[in-house]
Amino acid sequence: MERLVIHGGKRLSGTVKISGAKNAVLPVIAATLLGQDKATCLEDVPNLDDVRTISEVLKTLGVKVNHDLAKKELTVDASNIENVTAPYDLVRKMRASFLIMGPLLARHGEAKISLPGGCAIGTRPIDLHLKGFAALGAKIDIGHGDISAVAPNGLKGARIYLDFPSVGATENILMAASMADGQTIIENPAQEPEIVDLANYLNIMGAKIRGAGTNVIKIEGVNKLIAHDYTIIPDRIEAGTYMIAAAMTRGDVYIANAISEHLKPVIAKLKESGVNVVEDVDGIRVSCDRRPRAVDIKTLPYPGFPTDMQAQFMAMLTISEGTSMVTETVFENRFMHVDELRRMGAKIKIDGRTSVVDGQEKLTGCQVKATDLRAGAAIVLAGLVAEGETQIGYIHHIDRGYDNLVQKLVSLGADIKRVDN
Ligand code: EPZ
Repeated sequence: MERLVIHGGKRLSGTVKISGAKNAVLPVIAATLLGQDKATCLEDVPNLDDVRTISEVLKTLGVKVNHDLAKKELTVDASNIENVTAPYDLVRKMRASFLIMGPLLARHGEAKISLPGGCAIGTRPIDLHLKGFAALGAKIDIGHGDISAVAPNGLKGARIYLDFPSVGATENILMAASMADGQTIIENPAQEPEIVDLANYLNIMGAKIRGAGTNVIKIEGVNKLIAHDYTIIPDRIEAGTYMIAAAMTRGDVYIANAISEHLKPVIAKLKESGVNVVEDVDGIRVSCDRRPRAVDIKTLPYPGFPTDMQAQFMAMLTISEGTSMVTETVFENRFMHVDELRRMGAKIKIDGRTSVVDGQEKLTGCQVKATDLRAGAAIVLAGLVAEGETQIGYIHHIDRGYDNLVQKLVSLGADIKRVDN
């Protein structure tokens, strides 16, 4: 089984360039299903297993997809979709596969997708997605592990209130409503940068979407969307992960191609803990010459502190001066990294949705495992500062969301390698 082997204690320095955002490219790839008349070329596409998975999903629909890793380009030709069914084995691998339901309903008036399972961090229901589709006039049937949705007379605009500002539900409804008949209003939508990016892309294709990034989105449905090339925004969570790496190793790193506007809560909390953060138009410089101070964090939907940065920030808090409270309000089981950090000497108590972290002088390297994507990133960060050798198993979780992690860390001076034995 492949493992990462890290020898801790190296101070990181230099420049790392951030790749395209996983959580932007996945909905945008789903949205290419709406584009007609020509092929789409997406640029700054990251080299991730999740991109390969959603590409496989599109291929099962009869769509032509080609991923040029060297050019970081992905071309999609969705001029004719032969099939509207997504199979269990792919949807099971990645719940974001469910994002094809909105485009298929809009374009073809039907879709049949295997029920996405839960995952390590929570049950992750799709009730809000289905509430939106039903409001737009789709008939939903669930049975034998599949969800079928049909709208034989097309979708009709509606006013939809999201009980929770779900990122995926907002994206799916946005794509479905873009070709519905009439106006759709989404109240309490997700406001993440990835929502804004998806709306920008749909508007370039001819959609009429206003208000993405605010708490009300208005969509005037159109009859047709024309395929158009697009460049994916940088990955704010990858950027935040390297910022933490710089802080924890008391290094000095320039995070190039990072949009600081997307990282305000993370920057604020790093500054609160005594880390130096300097933002400029091209990136963010992070340096730290002392042990960080303990700070409290509470995850919230954007623009609050991102849940996808909770595990990584907790890794830093395990070696900070003082006691921190980490509260996870978005997912019900996103402390899977705690047990692995404890194995490395971290002192953490879990009380429901809150973890109390008693910062230690040091961590010690040992054998640990990645339990999910961001937990895996947190363990890597801990390994970078732990005394001795840390071996990390189940690194396929990490490969889902980090483009060339080992090469990027080695280029900053980390002692990390990937071994397979
Ligand atoms: C997206 O997942 C991201 N994934 C996640 O990133 C991220 O953690 C999450 O948004 C929150 O920011 C992608 O964009 C591919 P949600 P998504 O729907 O859309 C509940 C990573 O590490 N909910 O906003 O699945 C749900 O149970 C991944 O990159 C419902 O109750 O997240 C959860 O508690 C992990 N009903 C909360 O909302 C629904 O119909 C947030 O889920 C949908 C969601």
